[in-house]
Amino acid sequence: MQWANSTLAFYGLGAAVLATSVVTLRKRLELSQAKHKSLAGHSRMARRLAGFVPFYEYDDDRFFCSDAAPAEIAARRRAGFARLSALYQTRFAETIRRTAEASADISDLQFTGAYRVPFQYSRMVRTQLPSASFVQSSSGVTVTDLDGNIFYDLTGSYGVNVFGYDFYKAAIERGAARVRELGPVLGLYHPVIVENTKLLKAVSGLDEVSFHMSGTEAVMQAVRLARYHTGRSHLVRFAGAYHGWWGDVQPGVGNPLPAHETYTLTDLSETALRVLRRRRNIACVLVNPLQALHPNASAPSDSSLIDSTRGAHFDKPAYAAWLQRLREVCTEQNIVLIFDEVFVGFRLAKGGAQEYFGVRADLVTYGKTLGGGLPIGVVCGRSDLMKRFRDDRPADICFARGTFNSHPYVMAAMNEFLRHLQTPQADALYRDLDRIWNDRAVMLNQRLHAAALPVKVANLSSIWTVCYTQPSRYNWMLQYYLRVEGLALSWIGTGRLIFSLNYTDADFKAVADRFIAAAKAMQEDGWWWNNPALTNKAIKRTVLKEMVMHRLFSPRAR
Ligand SMILES: Cc1ncc(COP(=O)(O)O)c(C=O)c1O
Repeated sequence: MQWANSTLAFYGLGAAVLATSVVTLRKRLELSQAKHKSLAGHSRMARRLAGFVPFYEYDDDRFFCSDAAPAEIAARRRAGFARLSALYQTRFAETIRRTAEASADISDLQFTGAYRVPFQYSRMVRTQLPSASFVQSSSGVTVTDLDGNIFYDLTGSYGVNVFGYDFYKAAIERGAARVRELGPVLGLYHPVIVENTKLLKAVSGLDEVSFHMSGTEAVMQAVRLARYHTGRSHLVRFAGAYHGWWGDVQPGVGNPLPAHETYTLTDLSETALRVLRRRRNIACVLVNPLQALHPNASAPSDSSLIDSTRGAHFDKPAYAAWLQRLREVCTEQNIVLIFDEVFVGFRLAKGGAQEYFGVRADLVTYGKTLGGGLPIGVVCGRSDLMKRFRDDRPADICFARGTFNSHPYVMAAMNEFLRHLQTPQADALYRDLDRIWNDRAVMLNQRLHAAALPVKVANLSSIWTVCYTQPSRYNWMLQYYLRVEGLALSWIGTGRLIFSLNYTDADFKAVADRFIAAAKAMQEDGWWWNNPALTNKAIKRTVLKEMVMHRLFSPRAR
């Protein structure tokens, strides 16, 4: 009897172990199915592969014919490059000189200078078309460099510039005057914070607010709160989405350590929803609505523009429906839904992405423009999620501080920003926003098409990206032609153009004229030479072959 019992127990245990293994295996399988097939969806593999990419560069000849263009085309490119270089050295002389001087001491300048174009071309570009990273003033929709050149600003100051630089200058000045008596006292508040809190609650539709110093910190705090209140460990982000540079939200290339408590899932995918339903360890889902423009793709920097596969397309109803599905699953599973609106908040609509897509989040992070021109990060959320301590367990807290949080000058500039949002002028600005920017994108695309240029733009309202319609290895050159035409881009080049909302039709027409002129000059210089053998696939294959050969045979790479 005893023997029978223990045999039974043994089989029972075996069955339980088997069942658990099957469940674990199924969960594993579901997780891997929910990962996007690109490297953006496989953070660990991307990090590992990044370590294998060897440095190599093209010599003077190959630089101009890395796509096997004939000698005549290479010569045209060479002449165009020399002409651009001469223009750079004269027109931007002082700005370039000061940038080069400062670069040795400012690590950020070294980084951004090195990553403007694919690395195989980088050194030659750096020496012939050097970075010119200084400006002396801004006005309207323009900035002026140290040589007195005036550029239409398409950088948008990383997205901060929504209402135009003059607005922020005034906000900072007026704000500073209002808190001057108090000065930089920290820890205690200037009363201006009260109105900010009220206005932020109204804008976000949420119960409470916390103030931080950057978007990255706001995201850190939102995730920390989600973990604290759910008692769960993992955060979910979607492939390609940027949420600042904190380790847990940057699990792939760029972070020296792997992020063990992060799942990177496929955006707009049922398999991702299945993972959310099945896993019990998910505290929160982070959404950066900017991804609606290029779901599952990373920030479109020109340094990775090795061919013309970069694509973008914004489908508002599809993305809104996806967010709604996500909302439902998060509610059903008690997962905290966080909208990271650091970039898009106040740019798409007065009530941000929540209003624009018609979906409510549990926590929302804001930053950038909300500081009225000064550094900021904010979390708005449901009061049960914002609470940082427990009444019944006094030692169990969720700690968050930050020396400069609620700085009086920042609060005052923010107040100017939030008050401006309440004006009829701001209402008028937001009313027709999408139509205006969509019409402008259509107009530019029509002109590009009519001029037979292999370029088109895609947009999410005033956030634009440039795509290329025929295979080429040299699309990244466009940023230099654009600069010469007086258009200022950020260091990621044509991957992202950010317009401030004070662009008039006349301003935009001037930008469009210059954009067309730049693309035409680039075409005439032969950079978009193409033959049927030059497909995107063939370009990728060539680059991969070069990398493998250098990895295997170059002494520096081993
Ligand atoms: C969506 C999003 N979240 C967070 C951040 C980080 O903000 P910050 O650069 O202020 O730390 C950014 C910055 O670009 C962002 O776009």
